[in-house]
Amino acid sequence: MAESPPQALPLSPLTALAARLRSVLDTPGLTRDVVLNIAIAVAYGAAGHFSLAAATEHRAVSSLWPPAGIALFAFTRYGASRLWPGVAAAAYFLNTSNGLSIVGSALIAAGDVAEALVGAWMVRRAWGESVVPERLSDVGALAGLAGAVSTMIGATVGVATLLVTGATTLATAANIWLVWWTGDAVGVVVVSPLLFAWSAPAAAPKRPRRRHVEAILLLVLLGVSTDLIFARAGTIAFAVFPLAGWIALRHGLVAGSLAIMIVTVVAGWRTLAGYGPFTDFSPTTNLFALQSFLVLLGVKTLLFAAMRAEARASRARLARLSHLLITAHEDERRRVARDVHDELGQALTAAKIGLAAALHRTQLRGSLDSERHVRGAASTLDGAIEAVQRIVLQLRPGVLDNLGPIAAIEYAAQQFTAQTHVPVTLALPPEPFPIDDEHSTVLYRVTQEALTNITRHAEAGRVLVHLHHRNGTVTLRIVDDGRGIAEESLRNPRSMGILGMRERAAACGGRLDVQRASPRGTAVTLTLPRTPTGVSHD
Ligand SMILES: Nc1ncnc2c1ncn2[C@@H]1O[C@H](COP(=O)(O)OP(=O)(O)O)[C@@H](O)[C@H]1O
Ligand SMILES: [Mg+2]
Repeated sequence: MAESPPQALPLSPLTALAARLRSVLDTPGLTRDVVLNIAIAVAYGAAGHFSLAAATEHRAVSSLWPPAGIALFAFTRYGASRLWPGVAAAAYFLNTSNGLSIVGSALIAAGDVAEALVGAWMVRRAWGESVVPERLSDVGALAGLAGAVSTMIGATVGVATLLVTGATTLATAANIWLVWWTGDAVGVVVVSPLLFAWSAPAAAPKRPRRRHVEAILLLVLLGVSTDLIFARAGTIAFAVFPLAGWIALRHGLVAGSLAIMIVTVVAGWRTLAGYGPFTDFSPTTNLFALQSFLVLLGVKTLLFAAMRAEARASRARLARLSHLLITAHEDERRRVARDVHDELGQALTAAKIGLAAALHRTQLRGSLDSERHVRGAASTLDGAIEAVQRIVLQLRPGVLDNLGPIAAIEYAAQQFTAQTHVPVTLALPPEPFPIDDEHSTVLYRVTQEALTNITRHAEAGRVLVHLHHRNGTVTLRIVDDGRGIAEESLRNPRSMGILGMRERAAACGGRLDVQRASPRGTAVTLTLPRTPTGVSHD
């Protein structure tokens, strides 16, 4: 089948640039390494510079340290062996420009590199295949190992250097260590998730526009409410938790990490200006409290996003399994039907021919007793042959495979009327239409189950079966005028027949609705989406 060439989409210059950048980043080699090192150094330096500049205004935010998250992300995603020069250079220049000695700056930079190195190593090991924190255990590893454990390295080396170079005293060292540690942890928990989420290849299918609008509105609401909470002293900071959690649960990791970032920026900015819940105590205590708050918010929000991702992954696994079971079941039925028909059916027919010959000879010889025996055996055999035909049809009617779903539905309706004496009105397409094997099986099985349900439960006087297809979408409606399905049967998860129909529909991308019909009776509606042409399902 010839594919028509994809329409060339008009690329905006920005999209083109992003695509170009992505292709550079995805092709290993010297160019990529140089570009990445420069990019990391610039990002690290800029984030650090901004953070330090904020510190000169007010001690309270002197240590929120985004560079820790940037370095962790870079090492985890692209490998520390390639990128450590960029991180080391940026960390060194940040420290010298902040007035530290050459030796002191080099030591602190080494501590920062070691911290990110160990953090990235632990995260890589714990994450395995994951490229974003998409499982609860991934979040645990990111926050617990990289956020809490490896950050102790940078804080310890840093504070020791300050002590040795005389930049601080033993009395304040413990406090500085705490603030340094939680500041790096904020960097890891707040900044790295956003980078991981944005650099990951898009796995999810494109979402409708209104979902994006909803996410943006929720994020704006979060920003505004954070600002309101942090605009006054003594308000409860954790009032932002539910909304941030909700955003992550409903919209996933990208929106969740944006939520964390927004709260961090707004809360940091307000605290810096001297407002909000984290301004009542000594600068170090305030800072420690703010940073702990942000780390907890980050962990909680990431956990919510991971919960959502895990739930979706397990739903997808179940759907695949259900699809597999349904197709395997159908294949097995087809195989058994063929075997029973070919082998048993033919053996019985051969026996019948043999018996007929025997009967003929007994009649010639005139032995009435043997004739009676042979006649008895022949009629038993007739019963057996009929039974085989019936079983084969029930397993999988040949019309379905030979003549397609329209004939099979007609056949099912005939069987139904023969059994129940309830007339069926058929509204079927006059001509066969293109449909694959899987979809036509679903049409037949749903008809079969719906008619069986009418036989067993409906007490109907008439049945209407309506099948039509338009623009590739096939719709099947089976309506009876019986007593109508009870509300609790619709909701009952143990209605296995209805559940089976739903699963079959879902397994090939369709849906099934069961409703009470008006004025009375029950309507079963199956909608199957456009069949991908050229794709064979057998
Ligand atoms: N056409 C119908 N009319 C009235 N009730 C129905 C109809 N189809 C289904 N029901 C009700 O819904 C229940 C669930 O149906 P189903 O899942 O097929 O289970 P089962 O047929 O094994 O009872 C039935 O027990 C019956 O009470
Ligand atoms: Mg049933």
